[in-house]
Amino acid sequence: MSRPIILGIVGDSAAGKTTLTRGIAQVLGPENVTLICTDDYHRYDRQQRAETGITALHPDCNHLDIMQQHLALLRTGQPILKPVYSHKTGTFEPPQYIKPNKFVIIEGLLGYSTRAARDAYDVKVYLAPPESLRADWKIKRDTQKRGYTKEQVLAELEKREPDSEQFIRPQRQWSDIVVTFYPPNDNETENGGHLNVRLILRPTIPHPDFTQILHPDNDDSESPVRLGLDRDMGKPVDVLEVDGHATLEQVNKIEHVMCNDMPYLRNVCDREINPELGKIAGTTGETLQSYPLAITQLIVTYHMLKATQGHS
Ligand code: G6P
Repeated sequence: MSRPIILGIVGDSAAGKTTLTRGIAQVLGPENVTLICTDDYHRYDRQQRAETGITALHPDCNHLDIMQQHLALLRTGQPILKPVYSHKTGTFEPPQYIKPNKFVIIEGLLGYSTRAARDAYDVKVYLAPPESLRADWKIKRDTQKRGYTKEQVLAELEKREPDSEQFIRPQRQWSDIVVTFYPPNDNETENGGHLNVRLILRPTIPHPDFTQILHPDNDDSESPVRLGLDRDMGKPVDVLEVDGHATLEQVNKIEHVMCNDMPYLRNVCDREINPELGKIAGTTGETLQSYPLAITQLIVTYHMLKATQGHS
């Protein structure tokens, strides 16, 4: 039997990890997916952190050694006894026995921070929304779901910034795909969910050949779907951008490139690619309806399926 395929979704607090994770699990079929959130590997509970001043973003605040051991076990198809951190109470609960399904999605703050952890993934995604949008998302989520006031969230964001800079953001360099959802106008925050997406595709994994339909840097910069060449953290990358107002026809072209060498994906597209795909409820309950989200989910799913072919 082949081993599970492991996807990493890493990014700062409230960067959209859970929303993207859920969407991809939906496309792969929830029954095929094991979801793991690395917040469960926090070393200190909420009260201990408040007393000492350490933030959840600091490596010392997490059992990264155990996390990487568990990743290695999951990669070879073995079960783990996973700790459980409750966001509701800020304390730990009894551990859970987890047996990996065909696909494992690991989301969290520090998933790429050690070499051994990085080696465990087949596909690595990093979420990098603009900081202003992330702050909006965090305020929304933490006030609605986690019982904090807006002032507390803003104070927390400020307190965590040094750790974000030192430990979270550098992990972007290890990802295969950097996902940035952003509002169409710079000074505008999310309006009705019509975000654009910028996907940085590093040559660390073989991406679908979008040059069949889009021409890098030759293209009409006004088009809602664009392919370009750029550099990210000093390295050359391809960049696929899909605007929130892209049409179904434009989105279909991108899908067809992926579906052509991925039969299962064709089924998914036939079933799901319509105005409904990409309609995923975020953790705050609001609906993010978008083709940009749909395309992001499909590209990540494409790579998960490719990985299954790699070692069957
Ligand atoms: C943020 C992060 C979580 C982390 C939490 C811990 O909200 O997004 O990943 O677990 O901080 O802080 P807490 O609010 O539970 O004390």
